[in-house]
Amino acid sequence: MDKFVIEGPTPLRGDLPVSGSKNAALPLMAAALLADGPTQIRHIPKLRDIYTFNNVIRATGTQVRFDEEQRELLIDPSDLTHYEAPYDLVRKMRASFYMLGALIGREGYGRVSLPGGCAWGPRPVDLHLKGLEAMGVEIRLDEGYVVARAPERLKSGEFTLEPSSVGATINLLLAAARRSDRFVIHNAAMEPDVVLLCRALRKMGADIEGEGTPTLTIRGVSSLEGVVLDNAPDRIETGTFMIAAAMKPGSDVTLTHTDPEDLGEFPELFARTGALVTVNEHSIRVKAPDEIQPVSAVTGIYPGFPTDLQAQWSTLMTQARGTSRVQDTVYFDRFSYVPELQRLGASLQVEKNTVTIQGPSALSGASVMSTDLRASVSLVMAGMVAEGTTEVLRVYHLDRGYEELEKKLNRVGARIRRESDG
Ligand code: EPU
Repeated sequence: MDKFVIEGPTPLRGDLPVSGSKNAALPLMAAALLADGPTQIRHIPKLRDIYTFNNVIRATGTQVRFDEEQRELLIDPSDLTHYEAPYDLVRKMRASFYMLGALIGREGYGRVSLPGGCAWGPRPVDLHLKGLEAMGVEIRLDEGYVVARAPERLKSGEFTLEPSSVGATINLLLAAARRSDRFVIHNAAMEPDVVLLCRALRKMGADIEGEGTPTLTIRGVSSLEGVVLDNAPDRIETGTFMIAAAMKPGSDVTLTHTDPEDLGEFPELFARTGALVTVNEHSIRVKAPDEIQPVSAVTGIYPGFPTDLQAQWSTLMTQARGTSRVQDTVYFDRFSYVPELQRLGASLQVEKNTVTIQGPSALSGASVMSTDLRASVSLVMAGMVAEGTTEVLRVYHLDRGYEELEKKLNRVGARIRRESDG
Protein backbone atom coordinates (compact mmCIF):
# COMPACT_ATOMS: atom_id res chain seq x y z
CA MET A 1 0.00 0.00 0.00
CA ASP A 2 1.20 3.53 -0.73
CA LYS A 3 1.74 6.40 1.66
CA PHE A 4 2.24 10.14 1.18
CA VAL A 5 5.31 11.84 2.63
CA ILE A 6 4.53 15.55 2.98
CA GLU A 7 7.06 18.28 3.72
CA GLY A 8 5.46 21.34 5.27
CA PRO A 9 4.54 24.04 5.59
CA THR A 10 3.83 25.13 2.03
CA PRO A 11 1.45 27.87 0.87
CA LEU A 12 -0.40 26.98 -2.35
CA ARG A 13 -0.32 29.27 -5.37
CA GLY A 14 -1.59 28.78 -8.93
CA ASP A 15 -4.34 27.05 -10.91
CA LEU A 16 -5.88 23.85 -9.66
CA PRO A 17 -8.16 21.97 -12.09
CA VAL A 18 -11.17 20.14 -10.61
CA SER A 19 -11.87 16.63 -11.91
CA GLY A 20 -15.16 15.02 -12.87
CA SER A 21 -17.29 13.99 -9.88
CA LYS A 22 -17.12 10.45 -8.54
CA ASN A 23 -20.49 10.57 -6.82
CA ALA A 24 -22.23 12.04 -9.87
CA ALA A 25 -20.58 9.62 -12.30
CA LEU A 26 -21.61 6.41 -10.54
CA PRO A 27 -25.41 6.94 -10.93
CA LEU A 28 -24.93 7.91 -14.59
CA MET A 29 -23.03 4.66 -15.13
CA ALA A 30 -25.85 2.69 -13.51
CA ALA A 31 -28.40 4.55 -15.67
CA ALA A 32 -26.55 3.43 -18.81
CA LEU A 33 -27.70 -0.13 -18.03
CA LEU A 34 -31.31 0.91 -18.66
CA ALA A 35 -30.67 1.90 -22.27
CA ASP A 36 -31.29 -0.22 -25.34
CA GLY A 37 -28.00 0.91 -26.90
CA PRO A 38 -24.57 2.21 -25.85
CA THR A 39 -24.19 5.32 -23.68
CA GLN A 40 -21.14 7.55 -23.74
CA ILE A 41 -20.26 9.45 -20.54
CA ARG A 42 -17.68 12.25 -20.66
CA HIS A 43 -15.50 13.77 -17.91
CA ILE A 44 -15.08 10.56 -15.94
CA PRO A 45 -12.28 10.75 -13.34
CA LYS A 46 -9.60 8.06 -13.19
CA LEU A 47 -10.43 6.80 -9.71
CA ARG A 48 -10.38 3.47 -7.98
CA ASP A 49 -14.15 3.60 -7.34
CA ILE A 50 -14.80 4.11 -11.06
CA TYR A 51 -12.66 1.07 -11.93
CA THR A 52 -14.47 -0.95 -9.26
CA PHE A 53 -17.87 0.01 -10.64
CA ASN A 54 -16.71 -0.76 -14.19
CA ASN A 55 -15.99 -4.28 -12.97
CA VAL A 56 -19.35 -4.56 -11.19
CA ILE A 57 -21.05 -3.58 -14.45
CA ARG A 58 -18.87 -5.91 -16.55
CA ALA A 59 -19.86 -8.85 -14.31
CA THR A 60 -23.36 -8.60 -15.85
CA GLY A 61 -22.06 -9.17 -19.40
CA THR A 62 -22.22 -5.44 -20.22
CA GLN A 63 -19.37 -4.07 -22.31
CA VAL A 64 -17.47 -1.19 -20.71
CA ARG A 65 -14.69 0.72 -22.47
CA PHE A 66 -12.85 3.42 -20.52
CA ASP A 67 -10.74 5.78 -22.63
CA GLU A 68 -8.53 7.04 -19.81
CA GLU A 69 -6.81 9.66 -21.94
CA GLN A 70 -10.10 11.26 -22.97
CA ARG A 71 -11.80 10.46 -19.63
CA GLU A 72 -14.69 8.91 -21.56
CA LEU A 73 -16.69 5.79 -20.80
CA LEU A 74 -18.68 3.76 -23.29
CA ILE A 75 -21.20 1.40 -21.71
CA ASP A 76 -23.08 -1.02 -23.94
CA PRO A 77 -25.59 -3.25 -22.12
CA SER A 78 -26.74 -5.13 -25.26
CA ASP A 79 -25.22 -8.38 -23.92
CA LEU A 80 -26.38 -7.92 -20.30
CA THR A 81 -27.52 -11.43 -19.33
CA HIS A 82 -26.27 -11.91 -15.76
CA TYR A 83 -28.41 -10.10 -13.21
CA GLU A 84 -26.15 -10.17 -10.19
CA ALA A 85 -23.71 -7.94 -8.26
CA PRO A 86 -21.47 -10.21 -6.17
CA TYR A 87 -20.33 -9.59 -2.59
CA ASP A 88 -16.61 -9.44 -3.35
CA LEU A 89 -17.23 -6.41 -5.60
CA VAL A 90 -20.06 -4.72 -3.67
CA ARG A 91 -18.15 -4.82 -0.38
CA LYS A 92 -15.39 -2.71 -1.99
CA MET A 93 -17.79 0.12 -2.71
CA ARG A 94 -21.24 0.73 -1.29
CA ALA A 95 -22.49 2.58 -4.37
CA SER A 96 -22.43 -0.77 -6.21
CA PHE A 97 -25.85 -1.12 -4.58
CA TYR A 98 -27.14 1.10 -7.43
CA MET A 99 -27.08 -2.14 -9.41
CA LEU A 100 -30.27 -3.12 -7.61
CA GLY A 101 -32.31 -0.27 -9.09
CA ALA A 102 -30.63 -0.63 -12.48
CA LEU A 103 -31.28 -4.38 -12.78
CA ILE A 104 -34.89 -4.06 -11.60
CA GLY A 105 -35.39 -1.22 -14.07
CA ARG A 106 -33.90 -3.18 -16.95
CA GLU A 107 -35.01 -6.74 -16.31
CA GLY A 108 -37.43 -6.74 -13.39
CA TYR A 109 -35.01 -9.01 -11.59
CA GLY A 110 -31.75 -8.53 -9.69
CA ARG A 111 -29.64 -10.31 -7.09
CA VAL A 112 -27.35 -7.80 -5.38
CA SER A 113 -25.18 -8.30 -2.32
CA LEU A 114 -25.96 -6.20 0.73
CA PRO A 115 -23.05 -3.73 1.11
CA GLY A 116 -22.14 -4.55 4.72
CA GLY A 117 -20.49 -2.17 7.21
CA CYS A 118 -18.62 1.03 6.63
CA ALA A 119 -15.58 2.72 8.16
CA TRP A 120 -17.73 5.15 10.16
CA GLY A 121 -20.51 2.98 11.47
CA PRO A 122 -23.78 1.61 10.18
CA ARG A 123 -25.07 2.88 6.85
CA PRO A 124 -28.37 1.11 6.39
CA VAL A 125 -30.16 0.44 3.10
CA ASP A 126 -33.61 -0.08 4.65
CA LEU A 127 -35.09 2.89 2.78
CA HIS A 128 -33.90 1.55 -0.58
CA LEU A 129 -35.70 -1.74 0.11
CA LYS A 130 -38.88 -0.25 1.63
CA GLY A 131 -39.15 2.22 -1.25
CA LEU A 132 -38.85 -0.59 -3.79
CA GLU A 133 -41.52 -2.57 -1.96
CA ALA A 134 -43.79 0.49 -2.06
CA MET A 135 -43.27 0.39 -5.83
CA GLY A 136 -44.53 -3.22 -5.90
CA VAL A 137 -41.14 -4.93 -6.16
CA GLU A 138 -40.96 -8.20 -4.26
CA ILE A 139 -37.86 -8.22 -2.03
CA ARG A 140 -36.35 -11.27 -0.33
CA LEU A 141 -33.06 -11.68 1.53
CA ASP A 142 -30.99 -14.73 0.67
CA GLU A 143 -27.57 -15.42 2.23
CA GLY A 144 -26.51 -11.76 2.35
CA TYR A 145 -28.06 -10.97 -1.02
CA VAL A 146 -31.14 -8.94 -1.87
CA VAL A 147 -33.21 -10.79 -4.44
CA ALA A 148 -35.68 -8.48 -6.15
CA ARG A 149 -38.45 -9.38 -8.57
CA ALA A 150 -40.87 -7.04 -10.30
CA PRO A 151 -43.70 -7.70 -12.73
CA GLU A 152 -43.45 -6.28 -16.25
CA ARG A 153 -45.44 -3.20 -15.23
CA LEU A 154 -45.67 -1.96 -11.66
CA LYS A 155 -48.75 -0.19 -10.33
CA SER A 156 -48.75 3.40 -9.13
CA GLY A 157 -47.24 4.08 -5.73
CA GLU A 158 -45.47 6.56 -3.54
CA PHE A 159 -42.87 6.58 -0.80
CA THR A 160 -41.55 9.09 1.72
CA LEU A 161 -37.84 9.00 2.47
CA GLU A 162 -37.21 9.74 6.13
CA PRO A 163 -34.43 10.82 6.33
CA SER A 164 -33.83 12.06 2.82
CA SER A 165 -31.31 9.75 1.15
CA VAL A 166 -29.18 10.28 -1.95
CA GLY A 167 -28.63 6.58 -2.59
CA ALA A 168 -32.25 5.52 -2.02
CA THR A 169 -33.53 8.30 -4.31
CA ILE A 170 -31.14 7.08 -7.02
CA ASN A 171 -32.14 3.43 -6.67
CA LEU A 172 -35.85 4.31 -6.80
CA LEU A 173 -35.37 6.49 -9.88
CA LEU A 174 -33.46 3.72 -11.67
CA ALA A 175 -36.06 1.08 -10.82
CA ALA A 176 -39.07 3.22 -11.70
CA ALA A 177 -37.85 4.81 -14.94
CA ARG A 178 -38.91 1.85 -17.12
CA ARG A 179 -41.24 -0.14 -14.87
CA SER A 180 -43.52 1.95 -12.75
CA ASP A 181 -46.88 3.25 -13.88
CA ARG A 182 -46.51 6.37 -11.75
CA PHE A 183 -44.26 6.58 -8.71
CA VAL A 184 -43.81 9.59 -6.43
CA ILE A 185 -40.81 10.00 -4.13
CA HIS A 186 -41.46 12.42 -1.26
CA ASN A 187 -38.58 14.05 0.62
CA ALA A 188 -36.35 13.03 -2.30
CA ALA A 189 -32.70 14.05 -2.26
CA MET A 190 -32.07 17.40 -3.99
CA GLU A 191 -28.29 16.97 -4.28
CA PRO A 192 -26.80 18.02 -7.65
CA ASP A 193 -25.85 14.37 -8.29
CA VAL A 194 -29.56 13.43 -8.21
CA VAL A 195 -30.52 16.39 -10.42
CA LEU A 196 -27.88 15.32 -12.96
CA LEU A 197 -29.24 11.76 -12.95
CA CYS A 198 -32.83 12.98 -13.52
CA ARG A 199 -31.68 15.08 -16.46
CA ALA A 200 -29.66 12.19 -17.88
CA LEU A 201 -32.60 9.80 -17.62
CA ARG A 202 -34.82 12.38 -19.29
CA LYS A 203 -32.33 12.75 -22.12
CA MET A 204 -32.56 8.96 -22.52
CA GLY A 205 -36.35 9.29 -22.83
CA ALA A 206 -37.60 8.97 -19.23
CA ASP A 207 -40.58 10.90 -17.89
CA ILE A 208 -39.45 12.50 -14.61
CA GLU A 209 -40.69 15.71 -13.00
CA GLY A 210 -39.51 17.73 -10.03
CA GLU A 211 -35.74 17.39 -10.00
CA GLY A 212 -34.10 19.71 -7.50
CA THR A 213 -37.30 19.70 -5.39
CA PRO A 214 -38.29 17.25 -2.63
CA THR A 215 -40.99 15.62 -4.78
CA LEU A 216 -40.05 13.49 -7.77
CA THR A 217 -42.72 12.01 -10.03
CA ILE A 218 -41.70 9.21 -12.39
CA ARG A 219 -43.94 7.76 -15.09
CA GLY A 220 -42.34 4.62 -16.50
CA VAL A 221 -41.61 4.48 -20.23
CA SER A 222 -41.19 1.23 -22.16
CA SER A 223 -37.70 1.90 -23.46
CA LEU A 224 -34.75 4.25 -23.00
CA GLU A 225 -32.10 5.01 -25.57
CA GLY A 226 -28.32 5.29 -25.32
CA VAL A 227 -27.13 8.91 -25.42
CA VAL A 228 -24.08 11.07 -24.77
CA LEU A 229 -23.91 12.34 -21.18
CA ASP A 230 -21.67 14.88 -19.47
CA ASN A 231 -20.56 14.23 -15.92
CA ALA A 232 -20.38 17.21 -13.52
CA PRO A 233 -17.25 18.68 -11.88
CA ASP A 234 -16.65 17.26 -8.41
CA ARG A 235 -18.26 19.66 -5.91
CA ILE A 236 -16.64 17.95 -2.93
CA GLU A 237 -13.20 18.18 -4.52
CA THR A 238 -13.96 21.85 -5.20
CA GLY A 239 -14.88 22.43 -1.55
CA THR A 240 -11.83 20.47 -0.38
CA PHE A 241 -9.48 22.59 -2.50
CA MET A 242 -11.15 25.83 -1.38
CA ILE A 243 -10.56 24.82 2.23
CA ALA A 244 -6.96 23.75 1.49
CA ALA A 245 -6.34 27.14 -0.14
CA ALA A 246 -7.55 29.00 2.96
CA MET A 247 -5.36 27.16 5.46
CA LYS A 248 -2.06 28.96 5.02
CA PRO A 249 -1.57 32.76 4.78
CA GLY A 250 0.00 33.58 1.41
CA SER A 251 -1.98 30.93 -0.49
CA ASP A 252 -3.76 32.14 -3.62
CA VAL A 253 -5.38 29.41 -5.70
CA THR A 254 -7.76 29.48 -8.65
CA LEU A 255 -9.88 26.37 -9.04
CA THR A 256 -10.73 25.82 -12.70
CA HIS A 257 -13.20 23.52 -14.53
CA THR A 258 -15.65 23.72 -11.66
CA ASP A 259 -19.32 24.60 -11.28
CA PRO A 260 -19.83 27.02 -8.35
CA GLU A 261 -23.62 26.65 -8.66
CA ASP A 262 -23.39 23.10 -7.24
CA LEU A 263 -21.92 24.26 -3.92
CA GLY A 264 -25.19 25.30 -2.25
CA GLU A 265 -24.67 27.44 0.85
CA PHE A 266 -21.02 26.44 1.25
CA PRO A 267 -19.35 29.53 -0.34
CA GLU A 268 -21.30 31.84 2.00
CA LEU A 269 -20.10 29.98 5.09
CA PHE A 270 -16.60 29.75 3.67
CA ALA A 271 -16.35 33.52 3.14
CA ARG A 272 -16.99 34.04 6.87
CA THR A 273 -13.50 32.61 7.56
CA GLY A 274 -12.09 35.84 6.10
CA ALA A 275 -10.86 34.15 2.91
CA LEU A 276 -11.23 36.30 -0.18
CA VAL A 277 -13.39 34.44 -2.67
CA THR A 278 -14.01 35.45 -6.29
CA VAL A 279 -16.56 33.31 -8.08
CA ASN A 280 -16.75 33.21 -11.89
CA GLU A 281 -18.82 30.98 -14.16
CA HIS A 282 -16.46 27.98 -14.07
CA SER A 283 -13.73 29.06 -11.67
CA ILE A 284 -13.26 30.12 -8.06
CA ARG A 285 -10.29 32.10 -6.76
CA VAL A 286 -9.45 31.78 -3.08
CA LYS A 287 -6.93 33.97 -1.24
CA ALA A 288 -6.14 32.81 2.28
CA PRO A 289 -6.86 35.31 5.07
CA ASP A 290 -4.01 36.55 7.25
CA GLU A 291 -6.02 35.36 10.23
CA ILE A 292 -8.70 32.68 9.86
CA GLN A 293 -11.95 33.44 11.73
CA PRO A 294 -13.58 30.55 13.62
CA VAL A 295 -16.82 29.50 11.91
CA SER A 296 -19.07 26.78 13.32
CA ALA A 297 -20.89 24.48 10.90
CA VAL A 298 -23.72 21.95 10.98
CA THR A 299 -23.96 19.41 8.17
CA GLY A 300 -27.25 18.91 6.38
CA ILE A 301 -28.78 17.80 3.14
CA TYR A 302 -28.29 19.95 0.03
CA PRO A 303 -28.08 22.94 -0.18
CA GLY A 304 -26.74 22.75 3.39
CA PHE A 305 -23.17 22.12 4.46
CA PRO A 306 -22.13 18.69 3.10
CA THR A 307 -21.03 15.93 5.47
CA ASP A 308 -18.35 15.11 2.89
CA LEU A 309 -16.62 18.40 3.85
CA GLN A 310 -17.02 17.99 7.60
CA ALA A 311 -13.52 16.59 8.30
CA GLN A 312 -11.85 19.16 6.03
CA TRP A 313 -13.70 22.01 7.77
CA SER A 314 -12.60 20.88 11.24
CA THR A 315 -9.05 20.70 9.91
CA LEU A 316 -9.27 24.30 8.68
CA MET A 317 -10.69 25.35 12.05
CA THR A 318 -7.54 24.04 13.82
CA GLN A 319 -5.85 27.06 12.21
CA ALA A 320 -8.57 29.63 13.10
CA ARG A 321 -8.14 32.04 16.00
CA GLY A 322 -10.79 30.96 18.52
CA THR A 323 -13.24 28.16 19.22
CA SER A 324 -15.60 26.58 16.70
CA ARG A 325 -17.97 23.61 16.63
CA VAL A 326 -18.71 21.26 13.78
CA GLN A 327 -21.78 19.05 14.09
CA ASP A 328 -22.61 16.19 11.71
CA THR A 329 -26.36 15.54 11.57
CA VAL A 330 -26.11 13.19 8.57
CA TYR A 331 -23.59 10.70 9.99
CA PHE A 332 -23.14 10.70 13.75
CA ASP A 333 -19.79 8.96 13.93
CA ARG A 334 -17.65 10.36 11.14
CA PHE A 335 -14.73 11.56 13.26
CA SER A 336 -11.92 9.03 12.68
CA TYR A 337 -9.62 11.93 11.73
CA VAL A 338 -9.81 13.53 15.19
CA PRO A 339 -7.21 11.38 17.04
CA GLU A 340 -4.94 11.67 14.01
CA LEU A 341 -5.15 15.49 13.98
CA GLN A 342 -4.44 15.39 17.73
CA ARG A 343 -1.24 13.47 16.91
CA LEU A 344 -0.20 16.43 14.75
CA GLY A 345 -0.80 18.81 17.67
CA ALA A 346 -4.35 20.02 17.05
CA SER A 347 -6.78 20.63 19.89
CA LEU A 348 -10.19 19.00 19.24
CA GLN A 349 -12.71 17.09 21.36
CA VAL A 350 -15.63 15.00 20.16
CA GLU A 351 -18.86 14.73 22.09
CA LYS A 352 -21.67 12.78 20.47
CA ASN A 353 -21.89 14.10 16.91
CA THR A 354 -20.07 17.38 17.53
CA VAL A 355 -16.41 18.24 17.47
CA THR A 356 -15.16 21.34 19.29
CA ILE A 357 -11.95 22.85 17.97
CA GLN A 358 -9.69 25.35 19.72
CA GLY A 359 -7.37 27.18 17.40
CA PRO A 360 -4.93 28.11 16.25
CA SER A 361 -2.64 25.14 16.85
CA ALA A 362 0.89 24.97 15.51
CA LEU A 363 0.90 21.54 13.86
CA SER A 364 4.05 19.45 13.60
CA GLY A 365 4.65 16.44 11.37
CA ALA A 366 3.97 12.85 12.45
CA SER A 367 2.76 9.56 10.95
CA VAL A 368 -1.03 9.43 10.66
CA MET A 369 -3.58 7.16 9.07
CA SER A 370 -7.26 7.12 8.42
CA THR A 371 -9.80 4.67 7.20
CA ASP A 372 -11.96 6.83 5.00
CA LEU A 373 -11.66 9.08 2.02
CA ARG A 374 -12.57 12.49 3.45
CA ALA A 375 -10.67 11.92 6.69
CA SER A 376 -7.56 11.01 4.68
CA VAL A 377 -7.64 14.15 2.56
CA SER A 378 -7.95 16.21 5.74
CA LEU A 379 -4.74 14.69 7.03
CA VAL A 380 -3.00 15.65 3.78
CA MET A 381 -4.27 19.22 4.24
CA ALA A 382 -3.00 19.27 7.82
CA GLY A 383 0.36 17.89 6.62
CA MET A 384 0.69 20.79 4.17
CA VAL A 385 0.54 23.34 7.02
CA ALA A 386 2.47 21.30 9.63
CA GLU A 387 6.15 21.95 10.36
CA GLY A 388 8.37 19.09 9.23
CA THR A 389 7.47 15.74 7.72
CA THR A 390 4.01 14.18 7.87
CA GLU A 391 3.38 10.66 6.63
CA VAL A 392 -0.19 9.82 5.64
CA LEU A 393 -0.42 6.05 5.51
CA ARG A 394 -2.83 4.01 3.37
CA VAL A 395 -3.57 6.60 0.73
CA TYR A 396 -5.55 3.79 -0.86
CA HIS A 397 -8.60 5.65 0.48
CA LEU A 398 -7.58 8.86 -1.29
CA ASP A 399 -7.18 7.04 -4.58
CA ARG A 400 -10.83 6.02 -4.35
CA GLY A 401 -12.04 9.58 -4.66
CA TYR A 402 -9.35 12.21 -5.43
CA GLU A 403 -7.82 12.05 -8.90
CA GLU A 404 -4.02 12.45 -8.94
CA LEU A 405 -4.20 14.41 -5.69
CA GLU A 406 -0.48 14.70 -5.04
CA LYS A 407 0.30 15.67 -8.63
CA LYS A 408 -2.32 18.41 -8.59
CA LEU A 409 -1.24 19.79 -5.21
CA ASN A 410 2.47 19.64 -6.11
CA ARG A 411 1.76 21.77 -9.18
CA VAL A 412 0.56 24.58 -6.86
CA GLY A 413 3.46 24.36 -4.44
CA ALA A 414 2.90 21.37 -2.14
CA ARG A 415 5.74 18.93 -1.50
CA ILE A 416 4.17 15.48 -1.46
CA ARG A 417 5.93 12.21 -2.38
CA ARG A 418 4.13 8.92 -2.94
CA GLU A 419 6.09 6.02 -1.52
CA SER A 420 5.43 2.38 -0.91
CA ASP A 421 4.12 1.76 2.62
CA GLY A 422 6.39 -1.30 2.89
N1 EPU B 1 -30.11 6.28 5.52
C1 EPU B 1 -30.96 5.41 6.17
N2 EPU B 1 -31.47 4.36 5.46
C2 EPU B 1 -31.17 4.16 4.15
C3 EPU B 1 -30.31 5.05 3.50
C4 EPU B 1 -29.80 6.11 4.21
O1 EPU B 1 -31.24 5.55 7.35
O2 EPU B 1 -31.68 3.18 3.56
C5 EPU B 1 -29.55 7.42 6.26
C6 EPU B 1 -28.03 7.34 6.41
O3 EPU B 1 -27.64 6.53 7.51
C7 EPU B 1 -27.65 8.79 6.57
C8 EPU B 1 -28.68 9.53 5.71
O4 EPU B 1 -29.73 8.59 5.49
O5 EPU B 1 -27.82 9.19 7.91
C9 EPU B 1 -28.18 10.00 4.37
O6 EPU B 1 -27.50 8.96 3.69
P1 EPU B 1 -27.54 8.83 2.11
O7 EPU B 1 -28.33 7.63 1.75
O8 EPU B 1 -27.95 10.13 1.52
O9 EPU B 1 -26.01 8.54 1.74
P2 EPU B 1 -25.45 7.66 0.58
O10 EPU B 1 -26.32 7.76 -0.63
O11 EPU B 1 -25.15 6.30 1.09
C10 EPU B 1 -24.02 9.53 -0.55
C11 EPU B 1 -22.57 9.74 -0.90
C12 EPU B 1 -21.76 9.92 0.37
C13 EPU B 1 -22.33 11.12 1.15
C14 EPU B 1 -23.83 10.93 1.41
C15 EPU B 1 -24.49 12.13 2.07
C16 EPU B 1 -22.21 8.51 -2.94
C17 EPU B 1 -21.62 7.32 -3.63
N3 EPU B 1 -22.09 8.58 -1.63
O12 EPU B 1 -24.08 8.36 0.28
O13 EPU B 1 -20.44 10.23 -0.07
O14 EPU B 1 -21.64 11.25 2.36
O15 EPU B 1 -24.52 10.67 0.16
O16 EPU B 1 -24.36 13.24 1.24
O17 EPU B 1 -22.76 9.38 -3.59
C18 EPU B 1 -18.08 10.25 0.06
O18 EPU B 1 -18.06 10.62 -1.12
O19 EPU B 1 -17.06 10.31 0.82
C19 EPU B 1 -19.33 9.76 0.61
C20 EPU B 1 -19.38 8.95 1.65
